[in-house]
Amino acid sequence: MKRLKIVDLLSATAFGESVCVKGWVRTRRGNKQIAFVALNDGSTIHNLQVVIDLAQFNEEQVKDITTGACICVTGLLVASQGQGQTTEIQAKEIEIYGKADPAVYPLQKKGHSLEFLREIAYLRPRTNTFGAVFRIRHHLAYAIHDYFDKQGFFYFHTPIITGSDAEGAGSMFQVTTLEMNQAPVTLDGKVDYSQDFFGQHTNLTVSGQLEGELGAMALGSIYTFGPTFRAENSNTPRHLAEFWMIEPEVAFNDINDNMDLAEDFLKYVISYALEKGKDDIAFLNKMYDEELIDRLNFVLNNRFVRLTYTEGIEILEKSGKKFEYPVYWGADLQSEHERYLVEDHFKCPVILTDYPKEIKSFYMKQNEDGKTVRGMDVLFPKIGEIIGGSEREADYDKLLSRIRELNMSMDALWWYLEIRKFGTAPHAGFGLGFERLVLFVTGMTNIRDVVPFPRTPKNAEF
Ligand code: 4AD
Ligand code: MG
Repeated sequence: MKRLKIVDLLSATAFGESVCVKGWVRTRRGNKQIAFVALNDGSTIHNLQVVIDLAQFNEEQVKDITTGACICVTGLLVASQGQGQTTEIQAKEIEIYGKADPAVYPLQKKGHSLEFLREIAYLRPRTNTFGAVFRIRHHLAYAIHDYFDKQGFFYFHTPIITGSDAEGAGSMFQVTTLEMNQAPVTLDGKVDYSQDFFGQHTNLTVSGQLEGELGAMALGSIYTFGPTFRAENSNTPRHLAEFWMIEPEVAFNDINDNMDLAEDFLKYVISYALEKGKDDIAFLNKMYDEELIDRLNFVLNNRFVRLTYTEGIEILEKSGKKFEYPVYWGADLQSEHERYLVEDHFKCPVILTDYPKEIKSFYMKQNEDGKTVRGMDVLFPKIGEIIGGSEREADYDKLLSRIRELNMSMDALWWYLEIRKFGTAPHAGFGLGFERLVLFVTGMTNIRDVVPFPRTPKNAEF
């Protein structure tokens, strides 16, 4: 018999028919005559009740139906008598695929802390919380592709192994096949990367932007969506060493178009997740964050406030609030500053633009004032920076002089400049940190809880 998913069975009305369902036991209660099993197969946050008339089975067949066990049930679909459920199954045959010894099954009891569950990341998708989070993560990923496809963008695949440091921040993971303790050396005593696999020094990418720009200069509107890697030693609730980034890049867009795109895009994907992930979001709202749904709707229903970095600094200076990190023109904003602007001052998502060039990347378009660049950060409640982007410097000479000013190596960047020689065009783009979006939509507070297997300093076991 064909197996049906619980998400479909819960709304089925073919009462009296035989069905087959497979899943993991969440709980078992009952007495000597009858057992009620809450079964979950991951297709929905909701469980299906399986009713077992114990007189019809021998003890051997049913004793291992305990929390965590995986079973296959064939039985009759009936309208449920119990509250809060519409259908249930009256079991006729039960097969146990996998037992879960109650003495050692780590999820035997409910209510484990998120910290504990992080230590058993190989099992935590089985919990209601992580089932909900990972289904929402899926809906968001799908919505992102859906949005860009509808807007006529092309999904452009950029390399994961690269020779350049896109952000010029220098926190990269090296990729090599050289033996660390027997690496060949050049005459001046440095590692001889010409003998390495690629014949040069390579890293895991920190961003697909530079290659994405080349795509936009041919296909017009592209986006990337892939893993990115940063070896910053930041042990915060908002940083991962491996995270996913979405980077649209659009020929002929300026900074204002870029802001419009960012706002429209975020609103689309959030509203998609609210609709498709309704039950999961309702669960998280109830269990973790009673303001979650209100906050999501608030973002959907309000225009993001747009102001310059300089105006933002003035507001922070006048706030009279004591920040851990000092505020002055030229300072890189910390999450406490970003959240003050969003949560206390404007009470609305904020887009800050025109940052001092010293605190932003080399590729941002330089403003006339010689001090600021046409960068933009989108700041969200509870998150701080969710998007970073800019209009790009399209002028060959200006870009070259900025690269020289920063003492960056042309060896790794010459190809990026070439495009400014041949049919250069104004263009703009941004990067959305996927896990920060998932954090926002799920209401989780630690980024380690929105990716199945988080990679953070000293943590890559599973
Ligand atoms: O602001 P960032 O560094 O911008 C770029 O990488 C540009 N190349 C994007 C572009 O213009 N195409 O990173 C973009 C976003 C941040 O706003 C943040 O949401 C996320 O990526 N991000 C991280 N997320 C998790 N862990 C980290 N370590 C992150 N670093 C950045
Ligand atoms: Mg940034």
